[in-house]
Amino acid sequence: MPRRGNVDLTPLFDFDAPVERSGTWSLRWDRYAGRDVIPLWVADTDFRAPPAVLEALAARVEHGVLGYTNAPDELREAIVGRMARLYRWRIDPSWIVFLPGVVPGLHLAARHLVPADGHALVPTPVYQHFKRAVELAPRSRSDVPLVLASGRWVWDEERLAAAVRPNSRLLYLCNPQNPGGTIFTRPELERLAGFAEAHDLVICSDEIHAELLLDAGEPHVPIASLAPEISRRTVTLASPNKAFGFPGAGCGWAVIEDAELRRAFSADVIAHVVHSPSVFGYAAALAAYRGGDTWLAAQVEYLRANRDLVERAIGSLPGLSMAHVEATYLAWIDCSGSGVADAHAHFLAHGVALSPGAQFGDAAFVRLNFGTQRARLEQALERMARALRTSSRPSPTG
Ligand SMILES: Cc1ncc(COP(=O)(O)O)c(C=O)c1O
Repeated sequence: MPRRGNVDLTPLFDFDAPVERSGTWSLRWDRYAGRDVIPLWVADTDFRAPPAVLEALAARVEHGVLGYTNAPDELREAIVGRMARLYRWRIDPSWIVFLPGVVPGLHLAARHLVPADGHALVPTPVYQHFKRAVELAPRSRSDVPLVLASGRWVWDEERLAAAVRPNSRLLYLCNPQNPGGTIFTRPELERLAGFAEAHDLVICSDEIHAELLLDAGEPHVPIASLAPEISRRTVTLASPNKAFGFPGAGCGWAVIEDAELRRAFSADVIAHVVHSPSVFGYAAALAAYRGGDTWLAAQVEYLRANRDLVERAIGSLPGLSMAHVEATYLAWIDCSGSGVADAHAHFLAHGVALSPGAQFGDAAFVRLNFGTQRARLEQALERMARALRTSSRPSPTG
């Protein structure tokens, strides 16, 4: 039962309530429109955004004038206040560079913080836009494989040390990790930051999933909050889009303390090559931070129960395994023991659309988005079980 303090949140928000998304230009739902396929791929949720966000958006529409918009000082202050309250991370409003989303920030880092002959270090598996950003810049890169240690996807310091080059300039970090679901601990981040210092690397840390922590007591630590000298070499990318469920009306930002780094990163923002967020993005973000916390706590409870359901179901299926998901609403499922050659295609043929693992760096995996109504998730997991029973049956030809 979702609780915040002594308050039971169950009656306030109904995450079980089905919401019809077909016909709404949904990326996730449109791809399989008209087919009996449960789409659990791209990372958005099937929940209505918090009432506070919807009310703020409705108020802007009611006002009726949708002209060019300044970045609101109130939002800068809300971000500063939230970072201090959640992480004791002291930032200055002037360090914030607004972006239409986090992905443009991954690209700006590759293009402006790595010289043409420079090199970037990228963890793998990882959200595909990290690698795309470096490819399109184009800059050279090394993929640094994360390893499964004590059930968590973590950096391997030996592999990291082997991958760094004299021309390495940028270290990408995804924390919490998509698709692995890891919340990196303070000691893990300290070691990573020490590595960045030793090799004079800028850190680009995507922390978009920071408020989707599913294990009570496991805190998110912004890597820039570790020490002033780490802050000065870090670009932190953040957004309320994921946690509060409005990526289609989005807003994101970078937090960059060092003025020179900020100027270099922001060149395309200042030149308007990269546009500012829309008035709806600003309004949604401010409303989420001011009035969305109770909703967020209830959503995290709901996602935690979905995560537990997924872990139980996957654990009982022959040939499938997954690490415990500490954060995000994404399960990174190892299908290598299932005997199925193409797990993504196999599950799709049985009515469940997952993200193919190759997209993130390992074709033996699939990624499942459990940010959906529980009844739909249960149905998808049943279909996956059936798909595996089918694959283990001897084929008619022997
Ligand atoms: C790690 C990570 N970064 C960025 C994004 C997308 O960010 P945005 O929609 O703000 O561009 C996602 C979406 O799945 C993500 O998982």
